[in-house]
Amino acid sequence: METILIKGGHIIDPQNNLNSELDIVIEKGKITKIEKNIPPFPNCKVIDASDCIVSPSFTDLHAHLRDPGQTYKEDIKTGSLSAVAGGFTTVVCMPNTIPAIDEPSLVRYVIEKGEEIGLCRVLPTGAVTKGRKGQQLTEMALLKDAGAVYFTDDGAPIIDSNIMRKAMEYAASLGTFIANHCEDTALSKDGIAHEGEIAAALGLPPLPPEAEESMVARDCILSIRTQAPVHICHISTKLAVEIVAWAKAMGANVTAEVTPHHLYLCDDEWLDFHCKAKVSPPLREFEDIEAVRWALSSKIIDFVATDHAPHAHHEKMLDHWSCPPGMIGLQFALPIVLELVRKDYINIVRAVEVLSTEPSKKIGLKPPSIQKGNTAELVIFNPNEPWEVTEDKIFSKSKNTPLLGRKLRGKVKYTFYKGKIVYQDSSKQEFCYD
Ligand code: DOR
Ligand code: ZN
Repeated sequence: METILIKGGHIIDPQNNLNSELDIVIEKGKITKIEKNIPPFPNCKVIDASDCIVSPSFTDLHAHLRDPGQTYKEDIKTGSLSAVAGGFTTVVCMPNTIPAIDEPSLVRYVIEKGEEIGLCRVLPTGAVTKGRKGQQLTEMALLKDAGAVYFTDDGAPIIDSNIMRKAMEYAASLGTFIANHCEDTALSKDGIAHEGEIAAALGLPPLPPEAEESMVARDCILSIRTQAPVHICHISTKLAVEIVAWAKAMGANVTAEVTPHHLYLCDDEWLDFHCKAKVSPPLREFEDIEAVRWALSSKIIDFVATDHAPHAHHEKMLDHWSCPPGMIGLQFALPIVLELVRKDYINIVRAVEVLSTEPSKKIGLKPPSIQKGNTAELVIFNPNEPWEVTEDKIFSKSKNTPLLGRKLRGKVKYTFYKGKIVYQDSSKQEFCYD
């Protein structure tokens, strides 16, 4: 393994209050020196990180890798490629696979396949209910022993409040938590686009925001009463944020994540009627976007999670009703979070916190940290480099995003995992295996 000198980068690591220009030496995969102006030395590979930020690599607690069962959309390998190209070295994947991850053998399958590919840490969640049908609890203890990091029926809500309450208490007794996709399906019904001016003007079936908000409120109350933790997936409205703020003020153990698309895109993405804008929860109005941005800044929202939801081209070309909701996100989280830095909603330290430190802590994973003696697990990115989103730059099997053809700023240059370079940006992008 070659010795690497990362030169001229600005290191940001909220874990140990690093926020300055320092060089880093990596020998045999370990960080051996962090100092100012280290001159190049014989037999070292120099990475020029001037104009770049060097930070702990990112953790995504919410991605759909579609494996097993729908590997024509994504698989654990292409999901891993997309992750490291986005600066992520830990990806937690959702159990809405076919079959659903509701058996220990399926949990093991995901872990083992992730390890075999070896580009990043792939950690499965377990389903809360058998087959994600919302009726019978899974054997959560066995799933946890097999390696499930938390429990969710994501893609579908846990509608039955009694099941939700029991699941929360049971998960808490196992030292973990339930993450809920909050959607009262009696309210969302056949809704497709956020209920507002755009849906009305276009004649698209409206999906009222209280479908999300009422279930967020229920889960917060269950958490207050039971003292069990609950995590709100992909929060997206101003009122939902206010409810979480209230619950936190009441001392509830409630956390919330927000997706890059809900931080960046409005329901006007529907103006061309194309289902690339279809996602669950739906894209909201600008007022909601402002609210989730400020909530990320004030820590009402705890971190960013991509809800990377790959779907095949032919599926996204279906009519509004038949088309599955979802958009990919692993390669867009960083540039979108950097946009919030540029627009002064958050500072760069908070940007690293919401992408790396906070999500890692939530699942009890020691966050990667740039410290002498640590194995290198870091990302080098140019925060200002512009790039156009084109299909050839997307490493996911699916290209379903409204961002195609748009310019973003902020580019991952290198990703290190287990001491090695697993992604390197160049005109000819290359992935590096063992
Ligand atoms: O838009 C979404 N797509 N939201 C979800 O909750 C599920 C996901 C999927 O699995 O495609
Ligand atoms: Zn999801």
